[in-house]
Amino acid sequence: SDDKSNMVTCTAPVNIAVIKYWGKRNEELILPINSSLSVTLHQDQLKTTTTVATNRSFEEDRIWLNGKEEDISHPRLQSCLREIRRLARKRRNDTHQSFDVAGLSQKVHICSINNFPTAAGLASSAAGFACLVYTLARVFGVEGELSAIARQGSGSACRSMYGGFVQWIQGERDDGKDSLAQQVEPESHWPELRILVLVVSADRKPIGSTSGMQTSVKTSALLKHRAEGVVPKRMGDMIEAVCQKDFTTFAELTMKDSNQFHATCLDTYPPIFYLNSVSQQIINVVHRYNRHYGETRVAYTFDAGPNAVIFTLEQHFSEFVQVVQHFFPSEINGGKFIKGLPVDDANLS
Ligand code: PMV
Repeated sequence: SDDKSNMVTCTAPVNIAVIKYWGKRNEELILPINSSLSVTLHQDQLKTTTTVATNRSFEEDRIWLNGKEEDISHPRLQSCLREIRRLARKRRNDTHQSFDVAGLSQKVHICSINNFPTAAGLASSAAGFACLVYTLARVFGVEGELSAIARQGSGSACRSMYGGFVQWIQGERDDGKDSLAQQVEPESHWPELRILVLVVSADRKPIGSTSGMQTSVKTSALLKHRAEGVVPKRMGDMIEAVCQKDFTTFAELTMKDSNQFHATCLDTYPPIFYLNSVSQQIINVVHRYNRHYGETRVAYTFDAGPNAVIFTLEQHFSEFVQVVQHFFPSEINGGKFIKGLPVDDANLS
């Protein structure tokens, strides 16, 4: 009925890419130039919580991020709102419901909170848009494939719609309908895998991913080579490594792909620097540690910021934490760590 009001709260986890997405072939629909693959983190520590309310007394759609009201007219927010309402209308028409059964005539108020630094290259937009799309879908009674809508909020967000190991298939179509996230393996597949987030800096990154990608696509020949000549094979090898729980291959591909992504940033003109000297020291410590044991026990990856995400197996986890504490007594997270996180399967709840 007309006075229906509704409120839903959901949480969504961060995902960390081990094969990176960098570069769009369509800016508006957010279609990538290469496929990517990520691991969804456990929600205990890094997550977004979003509440969406509809009420007939609301006069406008409004949004608050971490307690501060933001501009709802942001084009990507508008894409997500428009697409969810489109699906809700379609469902209403298909099921012959009365006009406002899904609260479709009502405005929404959205309130979203990250429990980790926003825009510090810790995939805040991924968890944020995944959570927004999922919560809106619940409010409006929409079900089914939602990753193509989350993708239109932030590319990497489509991968946070699933738990465990997730690929974002780039797709071929111009309308983006085949550019979707897909679970490769659930979290339960590899329970020994551990993730350690090393917060080097919680500052906002100097160059956002949107403008960074645009400049890279325009100026970097290495990016073109990466997207066409490197990532297609690497995706296949990475999926195989995950399926086989082959840590050595998984770890080496992860480090090489992070390094190539940051090399692409350097190859961009003017160049983009996301790593700082602490990041470089972490890279050196990981390689020294692996060389010491004569096997690859630990891997690093970095997104659009200086913070490291470390992958290792349960049996090496505490020793490596001690190594980091020894070499970086104060540089990382004020001397405190975000704890080792198991991979998450329960994802959206
Ligand atoms: O989805 P965006 O626009 O925040 O871009 C994410 C880019 C990287 O984090 C660097 C790589 C990735 O695949 O997540």
